[in-house]
Amino acid sequence: MLHRHTLGSIPAKPHTVFRDAEGRLLMEQMVTREGFDGPFTILYYRVPPTDEFEVQRLELPGFCPFELVEDQPLCRRHIRPQDLPPGGDFLTGRRTLLVNDNLRLSACKPTEPAGRFFSNGDGDELWFVTHGSGHIESVYGVLPFREHDYVLIPKSTPYRLHLDGHRGTLLVFEGRPRLGIPSAYRNAWGQLTDYAPYTHRDFRVPAELLRYEPARHGAAPFEIVAKVGDRLTVHRYKHFPLDVVGWDGALYPVALNIHDFQPKTGLVHLPPTIHTTFAGDGFVVCSFVPRMTDFHEQAIPCPYGHASVDMDEVMYYVNGNFTSRRGIENESISLHPYGVPHGPHPGAYEKSIGTRRSDELAVMCDAYSRFRLTTVAASLEDAAYHRTWVGQDGASQWT
Ligand SMILES: [Fe+2]
Repeated sequence: MLHRHTLGSIPAKPHTVFRDAEGRLLMEQMVTREGFDGPFTILYYRVPPTDEFEVQRLELPGFCPFELVEDQPLCRRHIRPQDLPPGGDFLTGRRTLLVNDNLRLSACKPTEPAGRFFSNGDGDELWFVTHGSGHIESVYGVLPFREHDYVLIPKSTPYRLHLDGHRGTLLVFEGRPRLGIPSAYRNAWGQLTDYAPYTHRDFRVPAELLRYEPARHGAAPFEIVAKVGDRLTVHRYKHFPLDVVGWDGALYPVALNIHDFQPKTGLVHLPPTIHTTFAGDGFVVCSFVPRMTDFHEQAIPCPYGHASVDMDEVMYYVNGNFTSRRGIENESISLHPYGVPHGPHPGAYEKSIGTRRSDELAVMCDAYSRFRLTTVAASLEDAAYHRTWVGQDGASQWT
C-alpha cells in the first residue's frame, strides 16, 4: 500500500527453492491486487495456507448480516454510537451502522479479549481508534496502535485486534473493494510528495513477525472467519494458520496517528477536500485536526451553508469544540445526505468571526453513493436533529 517492505527471511529471488532451518520446503504465497497488475506481497509459510479441513457458515447479527431500515425519509441525521452498549470483541462486538455501494461503516466497543482471526474479503478496512491502545496480530506480523490512530488493513488479511485491558472505542470503515492513500499524494515513482499531508515517516508498519504461542493462540483447531459478499464463513485449520517466516511487498497493515496529519490553512476558508486522508472508489475519508484558521481580516472560519448535491457527508466527532453543530457530542455521527442542504447551527456562523484556532478533532467521509441506516443505527438515532436549525415553534433562529 505504501512502499516495499521486508520482514523476516525471504529467498534472494521469488519463486525459487526456500527451506527452513530443518530443511523443510516452505510454501510461497503471492497476495495480489487487481489480478497481477496491482500491488502485491509474497509470504513464506511453514504450512500451506490452503491446508484447512473444514468450513462452516457463521452469522454475527448486527454486524453481518445487518438489517437496513426500509422506510428512510430524506433528512439530516444524528446517530449516537456513544449509546451503543459495549460488548464482544473486535469481531463479535462490531455493529454496522451505515451502508452504501462502496462502504460499510461500523462501531465497535469491545469488552472481551480477541477470539477468532478475521479476514475481510469484501474490502480494505480502516479502523479509527477513538479510545484505547493495543496491537494487531496479522499474517504480516505485530503492529502496535495507540489512541487516535488510523489502522489500515488490506483486504483479505487474516488478523486479530487486541485492546489493552480489552476495552476501547473504535470506528471502522470497510472500503469496497479498496481504501488507501489517494494517488494524488504520490509522484510517478510512488513516493509520497512533499505537499501530501503526511510523509512516509508518519506510517508505522509491523516490526516483528507473529510467532505461535500456545498460551495466546490456543490449540487446534484454529479458526479464521472470512467475510465475502456480506456473509461469514469459519475456516478451520489443524496448524496455526498465520505461521510465516518472512515476506516482502507493498501490501501490509499500517498505522497513522491522526495528529500526524498536517492541516492546511488559507487566506479564507478552504474546502474540506484539503483534509482528505484516505480514498476509495467513490468516497474519501478526511481528518479534521486542531489547526489555525483562515487569516483574512474578514474571514468567516465557520463552514458556510452547503448544498453538496452529489455526495452524502458523514462526520464522526472525536473531541474538541464542535461549534457549528448543536446537540453533537464526542462520538456522535452526523449524516448530511445530498438532496437537502446543511450548514452551521444558528449563531455559530457569526460567532466564529475573528477566531484564530479550531480545536475540533473529527473524521469525515464524503461518498457519492447514498448511505442507508441499519436498524442498529436507527436505534441510536437522535430523531430531533433535523429540526435543530429552527426554534420549537418552527420559527427561524437565524440572527
Ligand atoms: Fe459539507
